[in-house]
Amino acid sequence: MTDFNSLIQPDNGQDARTIEIVAVADHDEWLGSQPSSVRAAATAQKFEGKKGDFAIVQGAGEDEWRALLCVADPAALDIWALAKAADALPEGTYRLKGADVGDAGLGWLFAHYRYDRYRSDAKVKGARILLTGEPARIDMAILQARATALVRDLVNTPAADMGPEQLEAEVATIAKAHKAELTVTRGAELEKGYPLIHAVGKGAARDYAPRLIELVWGDERHPRVAIVGKGVCFDSGGLDIKPAAGMRLMKKDMGGAAHALALSDAIMQARLPVRLHMLVPAVENAISGSAFRPGDIIASRKGIKVEIDNTDAEGRLVLADALAKAVESEPELIIDFATLTGAARTALGPELPALFANEDALADALLDTADSVGDPVWRMPLWQPYLDMLDSDIADISNSGGAFAGAITAALFLQKFVSNDVPWAHFDTYAWRVTAKPGRPKGGEALGLRAVLRYLTERYPVR
Ligand code: BES
Ligand code: MN
Ligand code: ZN
Repeated sequence: MTDFNSLIQPDNGQDARTIEIVAVADHDEWLGSQPSSVRAAATAQKFEGKKGDFAIVQGAGEDEWRALLCVADPAALDIWALAKAADALPEGTYRLKGADVGDAGLGWLFAHYRYDRYRSDAKVKGARILLTGEPARIDMAILQARATALVRDLVNTPAADMGPEQLEAEVATIAKAHKAELTVTRGAELEKGYPLIHAVGKGAARDYAPRLIELVWGDERHPRVAIVGKGVCFDSGGLDIKPAAGMRLMKKDMGGAAHALALSDAIMQARLPVRLHMLVPAVENAISGSAFRPGDIIASRKGIKVEIDNTDAEGRLVLADALAKAVESEPELIIDFATLTGAARTALGPELPALFANEDALADALLDTADSVGDPVWRMPLWQPYLDMLDSDIADISNSGGAFAGAITAALFLQKFVSNDVPWAHFDTYAWRVTAKPGRPKGGEALGLRAVLRYLTERYPVR
């Protein structure tokens, strides 16, 4: 992974090139005040006073140059204000003139993310930004950049190299780094305690055996927080097979697990005063003679008997057993991330995760922090009247609710496995960016992660 530490550093007056920030409103006056050589170069590069305009012009000495960047409000740079510049500038060290880096330090780091594991010409470019102000800001930016990069890396890795076993290895690496306790329940061992995880994963090849990966960390006296992530390493749909277009991106179906992993890593890195319990059910939803079938009925860990209406509604099954396990230790908060439904993407599009919560105060607080960190999410209702869409003719519940309100019925299914007295938030996230933007390449993406990280850092401040 990119070494973010070297890309953002405190300003100690070291040698650096200048990125001069020009406010949109001041552009014309600023241009008028420049020598003719600078005016000519700026004009030739269409530095016209629009937000994001960027140019390189003559600096102070003969061989010197400086960069110009136009922003809406120099007093409060947004996260993405520097991302395009970070991408365009050659290696070196840079300092802003006319603005504080502030939140834009994060976008600077994001812009350096590359997924180059399968590129023969891999090359990381290192443009470094200098930052004045509290060093804690630098640590926070690096923490968020690392977490986001980890999600992107894990999601981008093809299923052939990121099966349940590799996902377990990723958790093991993180567990070791923070001296966390790791418990893995694999293959046939799942049959008794985690029948739904077993059922979904039993069709996969031996070396893709299903498992529940659990990590526990922190002082036992601290408030217990459970983080759960859907780890379907590949979702073929099972016997209810997906068409080619629908299957193409399904390496990303462990995106929820990637969020859970990266968030847990950040929580431990920041040493938040919580007792953390991370649970990742990791499976492949494969097709074979031992795959589970439409019509099968499986008694879940919680005892609820589930009729399989559709083997492609597998995420809620593996999460149901994981959520039931999380509830048993009586956490004061459960948060899950899952690429759970196509319906969430249809409703809100690929950039806006759907948030479901069984407590208004929790939802409101998450929406607030999401807004404040520029990691937006949107609340959808746990609309109880739709529960009857999940009625089964012969079992307690069906795993699929039909054509309407797919994201809601999926969330309602999950809610059956969470007790009402545990505050619970569920993110139905796409985990994928469809079109690139500065600092945000196409591919695996963390959505809702920074919002939750900030929420937790505020709720459980380090003393
Ligand atoms: N992993 C998919 C959901 C998904 C699909 C997320 C496309 C993002 C993009 C999930 O396992 C699934 O297949 N859900 C079905 C449920 C249906 C069969 C009830 C869906 O959403 O169509
Ligand atoms: Mn599916
Ligand atoms: Zn799935």
